[in-house]
Amino acid sequence: FPAPRATRRLAADPEGIAQAAALLREGGLVAFPTETVYGLGADATDARAVAGIYAAKERPSFNPLISHVPDVDAALAQGRFGPKALALARAFWPGPLTLVVEKSADCAVADLATAGLGSVALRVPAHPVARALLAATGRPVAAPSANRSGRVSPTEAAHVLADLDGRIDAVLDGGATRVGLESTIVSCLGDAPVLLRPGGVPREAIEALLGETLASGGHDAPEEGEAPLAPGMLASHYAPRARVRLDAVDIAPGEAALLFGGAKPAGLERAVATRDLSPSGDLVEAASGLFAALRALDAEGAATIAVTPIPMTGLGEAINDRLRRAAAPRG
Ligand code: TXA
Ligand code: MG
Repeated sequence: FPAPRATRRLAADPEGIAQAAALLREGGLVAFPTETVYGLGADATDARAVAGIYAAKERPSFNPLISHVPDVDAALAQGRFGPKALALARAFWPGPLTLVVEKSADCAVADLATAGLGSVALRVPAHPVARALLAATGRPVAAPSANRSGRVSPTEAAHVLADLDGRIDAVLDGGATRVGLESTIVSCLGDAPVLLRPGGVPREAIEALLGETLASGGHDAPEEGEAPLAPGMLASHYAPRARVRLDAVDIAPGEAALLFGGAKPAGLERAVATRDLSPSGDLVEAASGLFAALRALDAEGAATIAVTPIPMTGLGEAINDRLRRAAAPRG
């Protein structure tokens, strides 16, 4: 169990950002906003600090983490980018894309943050607070989502505190995140890039830039890239407390309803609580509110959340991915 720490709430102003950077440089744990979700940051070059991430999250194993850097040049110092990786970096950074590339000869990221792999996952986030923090820290910052292991990712500072208050040194409060889902992860290790995790950049945008179809890999892996438990078995790691039932066309007694696009499933009037992710059917709006909606329905005490169908286009692929994980049988 991690030793208790007093958690400071820092405003996302120049003073708060400077304090957060100082804490990171001292080996502290600081949660900060990105445009996707809040990350739990530690100096990626400091193995002791990185170990603190796993302790605070109660992560069962040392999965590789994403290292965040302020700009493309800083990423090029840590990883070896082939032509396709470079094209993706230049097109989508800063933004909700993570690229897995080979480590550079002088990659400073600690082995604990890459789980001892020869590759490193790099991302240049677009959030101005994240970019200012990374620039002030001057080192790659390892950051998984700032939730306890097994919980839904945080999209507000209050979500971070609900999970990690007393376990981390500070949270920089930058308000609600814009995208609301984690970054898209693309592996550029082989000749053909592979989509490891759908996320904030839709598959279609990446395929259009590369002019080729993206193969999918690691899709069924548990949250945060643990090895799949068994072939075809979805992780139960990504879950609200309530059970989740997908593709609902009706609402059973005692269920909460999570709707999309103004859906009116049979029995909706008996739902114990109702949220519509986007009454107008906008997938970007639905992604941005997904995790907050799951937390809110949980807070209303529903035993089961019934979710109406969501299309698989654009951000729908990532939304459906997270919901499938939330609905997987609990281990
Ligand atoms: O939006 C996001 O990506 C957020 C924000 C905070 O940036 N971060 C995030 O980190 O979601 P995390 O730790 O939850 O996800 C890390 C993912 C895992 O699926 C892991 O397996 C993959 O990155 N990953 C990291 N390094 C890798 C590597 N060398 N090879 C393959 N996958 C890697
Ligand atoms: Mg996570």
